[in-house]
Amino acid sequence: MKLSVLLLFATTAFSLAHYSRLVECAARKFTVDYKKGTFMKDGLPFNYVSGSIHYSRVQPEQWQDRLYKMRYAGLDAIQVYIPWNYHETEHGKFDFSGGRNLVRFLSLAHDLDLLVILRPGPYICAEWEFGGFPYWLIKDNSSIALRSSDPVYMSYVTEWFNVLLPKVRPLLYVNGGPIISVQVENEYGSFSACDQTYMQQLLSLNRKLLVDDVVYFTTDGDGTGYLKCGATPGTLTTVDFGAGNATKAFQVLQQWNSSFNGPYVNSEYYIGWLDIWGQKHSQVDALAVARTLDEMLGMKANVNMYMFFGGTNFGFTSGAPGDNPFNPVPTSYDYDAALSEAGDMTFKYSIIRSTIGKYKTLPPLVPPINSTKFAYGELLVDLQGPLHLCAPLMSKLGGYPTYHNAYPLRSEVMDTGYGYLSYRHVLTESITNGNLSVPGIRDRGYVLVNDHFYGILDRNGPTELPISGKKDDTLSILVENMGRVNYGSGLLHGTKGIISNVTIGSIVNASQWTMYNYRFNISLLQHCKKMLQNSYNMAVPLKFVPSTYLGLLNVVGTPADTFLRLDGWVKGSVTVNDFNIGRYWPGKGPQETLYVPSILLKTGLNFITVTELVGTPCSSSYRCQIKFVDVPELNSNITSISVSLMTHHG
Ligand SMILES: *[C@@H]1O[C@H](CO)[C@@H](O)[C@H](O)[C@H]1NC(C)=O
Ligand SMILES: *[C@@H]1O[C@H](CO)[C@@H](O)[C@H](O)[C@H]1NC(C)=O
Ligand SMILES: *[C@@H]1O[C@H](CO)[C@@H](O)[C@H](O)[C@H]1NC(C)=O
Ligand SMILES: *[C@@H]1O[C@H](CO)[C@@H](O)[C@H](O)[C@H]1NC(C)=O
Ligand SMILES: *[C@@H]1O[C@H](CO)[C@@H](O)[C@H](O)[C@H]1NC(C)=O
Repeated sequence: MKLSVLLLFATTAFSLAHYSRLVECAARKFTVDYKKGTFMKDGLPFNYVSGSIHYSRVQPEQWQDRLYKMRYAGLDAIQVYIPWNYHETEHGKFDFSGGRNLVRFLSLAHDLDLLVILRPGPYICAEWEFGGFPYWLIKDNSSIALRSSDPVYMSYVTEWFNVLLPKVRPLLYVNGGPIISVQVENEYGSFSACDQTYMQQLLSLNRKLLVDDVVYFTTDGDGTGYLKCGATPGTLTTVDFGAGNATKAFQVLQQWNSSFNGPYVNSEYYIGWLDIWGQKHSQVDALAVARTLDEMLGMKANVNMYMFFGGTNFGFTSGAPGDNPFNPVPTSYDYDAALSEAGDMTFKYSIIRSTIGKYKTLPPLVPPINSTKFAYGELLVDLQGPLHLCAPLMSKLGGYPTYHNAYPLRSEVMDTGYGYLSYRHVLTESITNGNLSVPGIRDRGYVLVNDHFYGILDRNGPTELPISGKKDDTLSILVENMGRVNYGSGLLHGTKGIISNVTIGSIVNASQWTMYNYRFNISLLQHCKKMLQNSYNMAVPLKFVPSTYLGLLNVVGTPADTFLRLDGWVKGSVTVNDFNIGRYWPGKGPQETLYVPSILLKTGLNFITVTELVGTPCSSSYRCQIKFVDVPELNSNITSISVSLMTHHG
């Protein structure tokens, strides 16, 4: 205050500028005029063209680049989901640092003159693990009634919003920031609970914590069946749909409310679509996208393109849109968007930009460029340790707890939200070709007796397979969590690990289990290798045993973006300098390459680990190869096309 008073007297020029800024601030307002059927920005009619980007799917060093390209395309706004589980990683433990610095992300958008449409959920769908819900919600009580007015659930939501919303409040448009509107829940009309009390509770909570005048809205599919449970009084009803007849799609709003006259908003205009492991790569025709965009802008509708930039499901952050069958999404969230997974400007980007140019002034910015790509070539990786041996060792070394229980424990009660768990049981009698039956496998189990690999259990089947072993042999089941369901009623069955009892041959409800999680970093891994060299006969052929491999990639000069090919490898995950870049499953497709952003690499030596769950393509158990190339491959030939794609809304 004092400073500005002093400065006010410094020069006339400054005081004039200061004065006009004050006037601007006073007029800063974003509202809905239902009579005129339009948004009003600073007192003038306004319609936006926006694009979805998720900060959690791109490295923070690249936020500026992606946002700049969005602004350059002529967008007025970005639409942003906030994944609860990305921030409240454990109950009461909040993380807003680095890639989770939401305020920094929103401020970067603001600096580029991009408005923000905020989607705090708390449920976000988004093909994101558990639709954004933290795993610990189902730790103590797996029957918590998510997405309802259940007081247990709402108490967690209230705690979270009390931390989150005060952070974004100063960034509201009325307060000088970029946020013009806030979404309440997400496609609630597609969920079975249909609890209007919940919707009103969420709206009140938002109002209480944001205090100021804010435009609230809901988003649902373009059918009255969706609006029935999704729309709620006190909010603007918006819909989502892809290329086609927009006039017809928007008519649902009048069918729902005959006095509705706008503003018309397509909150998720699908310019691309999601992928599923084992299904054909989704592509949406750029010309069709441009045509319907043109139609919507021509009728002064408001449009948010989903996704304008999709990015990557790094680590174990991907979800699954359904559980019957369970259908997890791959690591890439390229989405056939306008900007590719690596942020490249596609043909779709250009045609969208020129379509926007017909209706809006394109900003006079320096044209952005695609990032540099580099093919670092082949890299030798060495076996560090089989998981069934390393998991217990690393658990001890890393100070992680070991769990003993009569029956298998599910993942959440062992404070393990994501990744791999090792379940072990000492056979109490000999078994010859007897079935191991694990109906509660979530999601895949890699079965060994001592060092012999017997095969794979899968929640989609088979959930049993024959094993042999002697009394006192060790059965170990490495359990892989492939991401929690993010859509539909499968959301209510999110528990992972082994969630029901196990039958081994004639022994029903086999008891006495020991469980370890498999969390590693480079130094733990190297420790494991050393310890195994002393205590274990590494000459046993271990090619087909879940194992972690390590290689050193030498980068000369400034690191560039690159893509990792794992031809012949079966399934697993990769870390780059201890950062988990995600899961691979090249034989399943459609994704063949993992995106490695330049920012994860450094000049000199880089540690690359490959955790392979089934078997490597190499003849030697100990040395194998992976390959860094300069072109992505997200569209491998999938012969079995199953399940119709466009059945749900992102
Ligand atoms: C578990 O959650 C459900 C739904 O929130 C609630 O009805 C039930 O009382 C809870 N049980 C316990 C033991 O907390
Ligand atoms: C789009 O739908 C509207 C309303 O149903 C209809 O009048 C119009 O003819 C359709 N346009 C096209 C190109 O099919
Ligand atoms: C129907 O639309 C009118 C005009 O936009 C609005 O004032 C009214 O609240 C809406 N009714 C419902 C039930 O949403
Ligand atoms: C940028 O990358 C996209 C996608 O790979 C490509 O289609 C386009 O031609 C590239 N643009 C330039 C100028 O190289
Ligand atoms: C073992 O499981 C397989 C696969 O489910 C099944 O076909 C077979 O009949 C089972 N064998 C016995 C002895 O139960």
